[in-house]
Amino acid sequence: MSKTVELIIDGKSYTFPVVEGTENEFAIDISDLRDKTGYITLDVGYKNTGATKSAITFLDGDKGVLHYRGYPIEELAERSSFLEVAYLLIFGELPTKEQFTKWESDITRRTMVHEDIKKILDGFPSTSHPMGVLSSLFCAQTAFYPESLNPNRPADGVYLSIIRSLGKMPTFAAWAYKHAVGHPVNYPDNKLDYCSRFLKMMFALPGQDYEVNPVIANALDKLLILHADHEQNCSTSTVRIVGSSKASIYSSISAGINALWGPLHGGANQEVIVMLENIRKDGGNIDKWIAKAKDKNDPFRLMGFGHRVYKNFDPRARIIKQAADNVLKDLGVHDPVLEIAQKLEEIALSDPYFVERKLYPNVDFYSGIIYRALGIPEDMFTVMFAMGRLPGWIAQWLEMRNNNEPIGRPRQIFSGKVTRPYVPIQNR
Ligand code: MLT
Repeated sequence: MSKTVELIIDGKSYTFPVVEGTENEFAIDISDLRDKTGYITLDVGYKNTGATKSAITFLDGDKGVLHYRGYPIEELAERSSFLEVAYLLIFGELPTKEQFTKWESDITRRTMVHEDIKKILDGFPSTSHPMGVLSSLFCAQTAFYPESLNPNRPADGVYLSIIRSLGKMPTFAAWAYKHAVGHPVNYPDNKLDYCSRFLKMMFALPGQDYEVNPVIANALDKLLILHADHEQNCSTSTVRIVGSSKASIYSSISAGINALWGPLHGGANQEVIVMLENIRKDGGNIDKWIAKAKDKNDPFRLMGFGHRVYKNFDPRARIIKQAADNVLKDLGVHDPVLEIAQKLEEIALSDPYFVERKLYPNVDFYSGIIYRALGIPEDMFTVMFAMGRLPGWIAQWLEMRNNNEPIGRPRQIFSGKVTRPYVPIQNR
């Protein structure tokens, strides 16, 4: 017999079904709560609210588990590639050899952007944050591909939007950077793989040869895999809710980019480097900053430690730490800020205060370190996250549309003034 729960309000009993997920997660299905009882639930920040049933990503924060479509993140990061993971997330299965060849070639053929995109780019002051530029360029695709606005377009039209999104994202991202530093943009070199192409567009300078370092391209590919999806986080929920109004895939993802921008979400790795810089400028006395972090009355908080959903460790952090070590070793980087990061990491992993509170370095801590070592400026860190998260946003948008989910429309508990008569201005 399937499980139910009983809710008693003012002595009256109501029964609600329990929904069980494939990984033994349970939810009380309250879809008809308001109709049955007149009550709603209140869950500011949705920490206890399942917004959907999803078959894409499973995470168990207590056990430190993360799976994409059933595959452990450790295996995917070790053995797969970002484009293969993108296919898996979006279509639900790993591609065959033939499917992958077509997928990669479809995406590679869509890396160029319309020349008029450059005019839009030139309209931005060079002081613009690249995330604002990226979300605007992404949304501008609705103008170049107006057929994408049709909510009832056939599946091959949606497929075209998907490969265009994945193909053009690195071009937009690198161009946003080039614009910020005042350099001419580079066109995509389609002989290269996804990450190498992006690195070349970012770092090649006119008249100079640019050789992509495979250690760096490999680390970047891993980083993108680790960021590719993370179930119903802030930006993904944004993409789903914008898409639920039948807005186009480009505008839904553009909204996701904006949601990712904030320091509590994608901006967290930038905050890590800002914190490390502040420690360096203050003389680099780590013990002093550790003491500040432990002092309850001190507002200072260590950025990049602990995680909202992972209560033991962030499985992505273990993998990325290895990639960070490889990159630092390979590049032979000597950077006082990164030395501070390494000392902080050592302390956090051994000091009982941090160990007991499960304040281990998370994915943002190491991704900030890698990006800094690669010479990627802080303002671009969130753009890198967006590049990684793109397949997840696409997969979640598609799932929501294929499930024909209703428009997202939360309720509220009104806490304002009750009815009162209007007072004309001369009497106020
Ligand atoms: C993410 O990957 O989106 C972040 O870890 C935030 C989250 O999942 O809540």
